[in-house]
Amino acid sequence: MSEYNILVTGGAGYIGSHVVQQLRSKGRNVVILDNLSTGFRQAAQDTDLVIGDTGDKALVSQLLKDHNVGAVMHFAAHTIVPESVSDPLKYYGNNTCCTRNLLECCSAHGVKHFIFSSTAAVYGIPATGVAREDTPLNPINPYGSSKLMSEWMLRDLSAATDLAHVVLRYFNVAGSDPKGRIGQSTRKATLLTKVACEAALGIRDQVAIFGSDYATPDGTGVRDYIHVEDLANAHLMALDYLEQGGASNTFNCGYGHGYSVREVLDMVARVNGAPLNIKELPRRAGDPPTLIADAERIRTTLGWRPQYDDLEQIVASALHWERKLMQNDFRNQ
Ligand code: UD1
Repeated sequence: MSEYNILVTGGAGYIGSHVVQQLRSKGRNVVILDNLSTGFRQAAQDTDLVIGDTGDKALVSQLLKDHNVGAVMHFAAHTIVPESVSDPLKYYGNNTCCTRNLLECCSAHGVKHFIFSSTAAVYGIPATGVAREDTPLNPINPYGSSKLMSEWMLRDLSAATDLAHVVLRYFNVAGSDPKGRIGQSTRKATLLTKVACEAALGIRDQVAIFGSDYATPDGTGVRDYIHVEDLANAHLMALDYLEQGGASNTFNCGYGHGYSVREVLDMVARVNGAPLNIKELPRRAGDPPTLIADAERIRTTLGWRPQYDDLEQIVASALHWERKLMQNDFRNQ
């Protein structure tokens, strides 16, 4: 196995920390770069952590050199869709301009492999509700556009240099480490599973259903929920693929089937053993009725096989983590 270090930007965040944990368990050398704006020192566990911004050219250049970085996984980003609408330049600044800086440093340092966290938001509202990687890209918010612009930079840089990259387009990430060491710790979370678990445990009064008049089986929005452990594993497989000489590629990360908001809430109530306090509200602006991944390409090209394609397991791990946070909220330390 290569001796080089893998730089994980945003490795103290939700998804990044799960990937770091898996990389370390496989014996890989990892260094994290995280500004701790939404991540937590504790999520890095005992992995080397450099605190700083991906937009800091001097810092990133030094880090790549000092740590002999040969591959980069880039998670660090802002991810709140409504905030991207009200403050677009924050998103273009961090998600696009800082990515450009990181890529420039990687290019100068000779980094050969780059794995980029993208999003299903690059598709916007696909006509059939199912998105393939070659479905037309039509983001409907600055978050999706800021990620798509980074995809384009990667495409062009890989065409011009010997960089090879993988773009992973995440669908709805949920759940936590089944062993309960790390989990989704974002403050003021907006993601459905997190919000529902908080409501189940009394951390918030209720959970809202944003729209119950969609043309879906039960009228509520349908999404492709993927367990964070399966998503993390996709990153390791993408790195193996690049290290074995695989060409630059883009993969959807989802299971290829969906659950409605009501089905998710029912599962949270069932696993928790008590009904949820639910309030039905109007549709949230910009929400597609259905968004499901066509996930054939990642299965056939990377051989990715999910281990946790089960809503009950996803919800149980999320609830377990939420209880742990309630007992010991390291975020206040
Ligand atoms: C998430 C991702 C987005 C990605 C998309 C892929 C983030 C912040 N967003 O957005 O980047 O492109 O998945 O599908 O990571 N809902 C409620 N009540 C709530 C919260 C949500 O009814 O309190 C509903 C929404 O209307 C939607 C579904 O639940 O139908 C999922 O919403 P949410 O968890 O916010 O994720 P997405 O908006 O799908």
